Amino acid sequence: MSKNVIFCFSGTGNCLDIAKNIAKGLGDTDIVMMRKAPELTNVVKAERVGFVFPCCGGGLPGKVEEYVRRVAVGPDAYKFAVCSCAGYPGLGLSIIDGIVDLDYWSVISHQSSCIWLMPHSMMVPPLPADKAQKRSETLTARVVSDVLAGKKLSGKPSAPAFNKMEAALWPQLSVKKAAKLTATDACVGCGQCVELCPRGNIKLENGKPVFGGDCVQCLSCLQFCPSEAIHMGGATLKRERYRNPNVSAAELMAKVIHID
Ligand SMILES: Cc1cc2nc3c(=O)[nH]c(=O)nc-3n(C[C@H](O)[C@H](O)[C@H](O)COP(=O)(O)O)c2cc1C
Ligand code: SF4
Ligand code: SF4
Repeated sequence: MSKNVIFCFSGTGNCLDIAKNIAKGLGDTDIVMMRKAPELTNVVKAERVGFVFPCCGGGLPGKVEEYVRRVAVGPDAYKFAVCSCAGYPGLGLSIIDGIVDLDYWSVISHQSSCIWLMPHSMMVPPLPADKAQKRSETLTARVVSDVLAGKKLSGKPSAPAFNKMEAALWPQLSVKKAAKLTATDACVGCGQCVELCPRGNIKLENGKPVFGGDCVQCLSCLQFCPSEAIHMGGATLKRERYRNPNVSAAELMAKVIHID
């Protein structure tokens, strides 16, 4: 097993970019993807175990909480987490701390990937995509030096009441938004969205995608569609797509990415 293991969920690639940069800084790291059930859960021999994920509806995306509960970490491992978000980290760090008792955590704000809620430029504080990426890289480098130094934080990650309300309402909103997923005639039937969907929620019928109701709002299908054919209601028709410049659809679909 690698010396370091990072569990990662990512929709537009921001978190995977952060995880890759941390892995490059630490060396000898397995990045285990958590879009679907993780390939590897017994990491008791790893010296450092990290979790990198976005804030989604004030909480954790997809089945991340369930997957983190499956992870077995050694008693002496150094445990850290990074939450990427548009404006605020929400409950994710607090939930993961409750499961693995984190030594260290950090928040990195990046481009907003929630295209149906707001244009990407509406992140807080506002920055164009290239500057947001640069800032993310600078903040990630700081995380790397803290983790290498074994920095330990006192206290606990916050769990604001507002985010608790938001996260409680999120599943209902998700179902409503999932019902609005459609593909236009711009679709070329490449099938990438089918492969990318972590829930198996997309099927090709007569060469065109058909969406079910089991959607965790990762928005990868919509953001990575090469023809920009996928929409989620009228709001997304004219909004520009965003995906992290350093992450490919193939990487998002990987189970484990090893970085020496
Ligand atoms: C469905 C959805 C919900 C989101 N909810 C929040 C939120 O509640 N607060 C926030 O600050 N950012 C929110 N975001 C923004 C993401 O956390 C942010 O863009 C993050 O960098 C995405 O990382 P990723 O590309 O690895 O998925 C949301 C994004 C999506 C797609
Ligand atoms: S990724 Fe886009 S072009 Fe390819 S099948 Fe899906 S909707 Fe069609
Ligand atoms: S349907 Fe699209 S947004 Fe929903 S889970 Fe699948 S890939 Fe993600």
